[in-house]
Amino acid sequence: MELKINLKKERQNTEINPEKLDFGRIFTDHMFEMYYTPEKGWHNAQIVPFHNFDLSPATMVFHYAQSVFEGLKAYKYKGKYIALMRPEENFKRLNRSARRLVIPEIDEEFVLNALIELLKIEKNWIPDKKGYALYIRPTIIGTDPVIRLKPSENYLFYIILSPVGPYYKNGFKPAKILVETEYVRSVRGQTGDTKASANYGISLIAGKKATELGYDQALWLDAIERRYIEEVGSMNIFFVIDGKIVTPKLRGSILPGITRDSIIKLAKHLGYEVEERDITIDEVIEGIEKGKVTECFGTGTAAVISPVGVLGYKGKNYIIGNGEIGPISKRLFDEYTGIQYGEKEDVFGWLKIIEY
Ligand code: COI
Repeated sequence: MELKINLKKERQNTEINPEKLDFGRIFTDHMFEMYYTPEKGWHNAQIVPFHNFDLSPATMVFHYAQSVFEGLKAYKYKGKYIALMRPEENFKRLNRSARRLVIPEIDEEFVLNALIELLKIEKNWIPDKKGYALYIRPTIIGTDPVIRLKPSENYLFYIILSPVGPYYKNGFKPAKILVETEYVRSVRGQTGDTKASANYGISLIAGKKATELGYDQALWLDAIERRYIEEVGSMNIFFVIDGKIVTPKLRGSILPGITRDSIIKLAKHLGYEVEERDITIDEVIEGIEKGKVTECFGTGTAAVISPVGVLGYKGKNYIIGNGEIGPISKRLFDEYTGIQYGEKEDVFGWLKIIEY
């Protein structure tokens, strides 16, 4: 497939003040898009000026959420390159999500190359400051203007880019997380292990409740026994228990986070013992009280590594460690972001460096 490029004449001013960036509100001048029809498959791949879509109110995605997405970041690397971290994994996961939502798969290599072209065009939008990046949002939606419940026949795939800073307003300060005991996010067999857009829509109520009670996000428990820890709104979760790094094993309802996987590999490489296993909320609460749980942090593309200082559970706040960033969380953050920004050796060969 050929990639067409149609650039805007007037570019927006890219002199953004990184300190004032609100996550995901500003978008760059251009986007990538391509279309799927049963006759032509994926076709009409193009980089075009950022624009709105003209869609019927009956469009499938609006009614039945036939939509999947990804999140990855581009970094300014050593002042003159662009770096992506394990981008192939994102497009692989996008196809896994697509299969679950009966969406036709994309050509991962073609789309990654199109993204690279788009990034070269939008290079001036990548904030040149540690902790800041260009967030990349590939999305696929079903576009049939039909409200009969069946898979869409036509689809739109697009990638938009947004310069971002830290996901949480308080930056790297420990977050306060509320354990959600009423609602559930997913159950094995459902879509929790994919990036179905609907997963995020149904999570909003718990996030709202958490915010109203003064927390940053909600922590989900499993849907069946309501005991096992699953993940937080926008990140996977890790604990340091008795000096070991422990994270819930992927039980079919948890998102297989790429940052989660990278942190497990990095932590092992740094000599930490890492366990992927079932963790109950009782074990965590008791562990905090007895001083066995000394650290907690979340991982995600947007969240990077976000320390958690307080867990709210059944009306009580539990302070983890001394409520500050723990040494293991800090070390992992430094090592991980050090690789992303070219300060530490990329021992795993995770970076895709782009010259422009
Ligand atoms: C990401 O971390 O990239 C995500 O997709 C989470 C999103 C809710 C911001």
